[in-house]
Amino acid sequence: MNQHDWRLAAAQKALTQILPGFEQSLQKKIVDTPLQWDRFKTRINQEWERLFIYLHELYGWQFDFYHTLEKTMEILIRYWFDRPPVLHRLDEKREADPLWYTSEKMIGIVLYVDLFSDNLAGLHDHIPYFEKLGVTYLHLMPLFSTPHGENDGGYAVSDYRSVNPDLGTMEELFRLAQALREHGISLVLDFVFNHTSDEHEWASKAKAGDPEYKEYFFTFTDRALVDRFQEHLRDIFPTIRKGSFTWNDQMQCWVWTTFNNYQWDLNYSNPSVFLAMAEEMLFLANEGVEVLRLDAVAFIWKRIGTSCENQSEAHTIIRAFNAMAGIVAPSLLFVSEAIVHPDEVIQYIHRDECQLSYNPLQMALIWEALATREVKLLAFSMKHRERLPDECTWVNYLRCHDDIGWTFDDEDARQMGIDPKGHRQFLNDFYTGQYPGSFARGVPFQYHPETGDLRISGTLSSLAGLEQALEKQDHILIELAVKRINMLRSILVSIGGIPLLYAGDEYGHLNDYTFLTDPAKVTDSRWVHRSKKRWHAADDLTRKDTLEWRFFHEMVKLCQLRKKLPCLKNGGMEVFDTGNPHIFGYSRANKGQKLLIINNFSEHDQVMSAVRLKDMGMRSDGYDVCTQKELPAGENVILRGYEYIWINIADSRI
Ligand code: GLC
Repeated sequence: MNQHDWRLAAAQKALTQILPGFEQSLQKKIVDTPLQWDRFKTRINQEWERLFIYLHELYGWQFDFYHTLEKTMEILIRYWFDRPPVLHRLDEKREADPLWYTSEKMIGIVLYVDLFSDNLAGLHDHIPYFEKLGVTYLHLMPLFSTPHGENDGGYAVSDYRSVNPDLGTMEELFRLAQALREHGISLVLDFVFNHTSDEHEWASKAKAGDPEYKEYFFTFTDRALVDRFQEHLRDIFPTIRKGSFTWNDQMQCWVWTTFNNYQWDLNYSNPSVFLAMAEEMLFLANEGVEVLRLDAVAFIWKRIGTSCENQSEAHTIIRAFNAMAGIVAPSLLFVSEAIVHPDEVIQYIHRDECQLSYNPLQMALIWEALATREVKLLAFSMKHRERLPDECTWVNYLRCHDDIGWTFDDEDARQMGIDPKGHRQFLNDFYTGQYPGSFARGVPFQYHPETGDLRISGTLSSLAGLEQALEKQDHILIELAVKRINMLRSILVSIGGIPLLYAGDEYGHLNDYTFLTDPAKVTDSRWVHRSKKRWHAADDLTRKDTLEWRFFHEMVKLCQLRKKLPCLKNGGMEVFDTGNPHIFGYSRANKGQKLLIINNFSEHDQVMSAVRLKDMGMRSDGYDVCTQKELPAGENVILRGYEYIWINIADSRI
């Protein structure tokens, strides 16, 4: 927008027309808390213009736009006054340190409450476990009311304001958020805003024939129209069903269901949906959630004749949410979950949109390099795709509750002399263990017979060879797998962004095949890496020779090291050419510190030449900050199989 944009004047005019009415009706509250009202007005003045512009883009053409603006203001004021004082104080703290999340001190973990600690009360007791790992960001997988039986791991939400009774209550969640905050841990939850479950009150009302709520969803009586949309859509869960629409007998119409048939897509072209979901977002913020993972962002706007993914309005909706959060709960952050082409992933990342984003490209290419033992595609892609605006950061991960999809750019692959289609086929063969000599024990996920697409399920340890090695009881293979896993985790904590552990990765948990006997899970192989098996660091401290202990101990060491190194703060990450096709190298620099981090993706010894190290700035002796081993200048560095070295090349020791 530029300053001559007519919408700026219109925004101001709307503000002066709308706000005084509320001021009048809130007289008593304002008189009682004048400071609070002043602060609200400051925030409104900061954010209103852009909020107005976003809303105008989305709904300005509708006859009741002015009503949408009034309703927006009413919501902002209501949630502002509802926000607990402790969270207002948090907002002020964050405003004084706005880039807190880019710190090297950040370490994340994500888990299912029921699988990890049975319920929220149990989770409370695990705070010391998180502290051991240095966790500052705790993502709890969806924990709200959800249909019994199939519910997509909680991603079919029936009520955003009630916790699944098996897990606890809203009060417990609030208290947990508070307790975590006191221990320096931010609570992260999903904002599942593309769809609700078909048992959500809105869906029930729609099914009962309420026309107002029918408009909350996409319903069609005309199959021809459905077909026109369908023509350009991809199947997300092709082994479960074909197409993105589900016939509903009760309503006698088709309902848009991008994911499972019980997940009904919300219709954001209806401003009531936007406002209702904005309320749910602010409600969660006021419960003490500090970061919201915006689930399935790519799908929230539909346009006939397109893939209905990554439409520009999807960005506008998120920005409008961002502006509303900026007024009521400025400490709230968004992390985008866009598992789409890398060019699209990047579009969601902006101070005004999602400050954080999952990094699916890096994740997939790390696995790609592990299979091929060659780092060219990883290094090439990271070099030109990794950089983000300074106020934003990646959430890096090796595994999560979802599958691995090979989302690299085809042209990047071709430039590296790789045939993208054949390569994806190879990676799928490799990770499902079919490729001769593969160490991996992955499970196929969602094979699409028409396109040949396939994704991979499995835990970090099973994919990296531990399961197979243990089965063979082969010591050499076990040690290789341990080294592979540790190298990947070292990359996770040292490459630019917030490292996000998937609970279990810290102690090396393996695939769990019991889902095959559960009818609600058997069709979804992602359950192979969503396991109830737990290992308790505290219990095992006496048995320091177990694999679990070794993994855990190494993880703690890496996390502690990260926290001591300001050069690992966001930014200042450069991938460099190591001159060796098997070594992935990047430098991290900040505050007078500089590390050259090199990782050997093969099981054989590899040489990193002294000349290259010198080119990268190693002009005098350095040393490995992980092992304290000295590395004299002018000498080649030999990396053993899967070894990683963090070379300190700054003058001072760390
Ligand atoms: C996201 C979640 C995934 C879920 C889907 C539908 O991609 O990560 O687990 O199936 O959204 O909500």
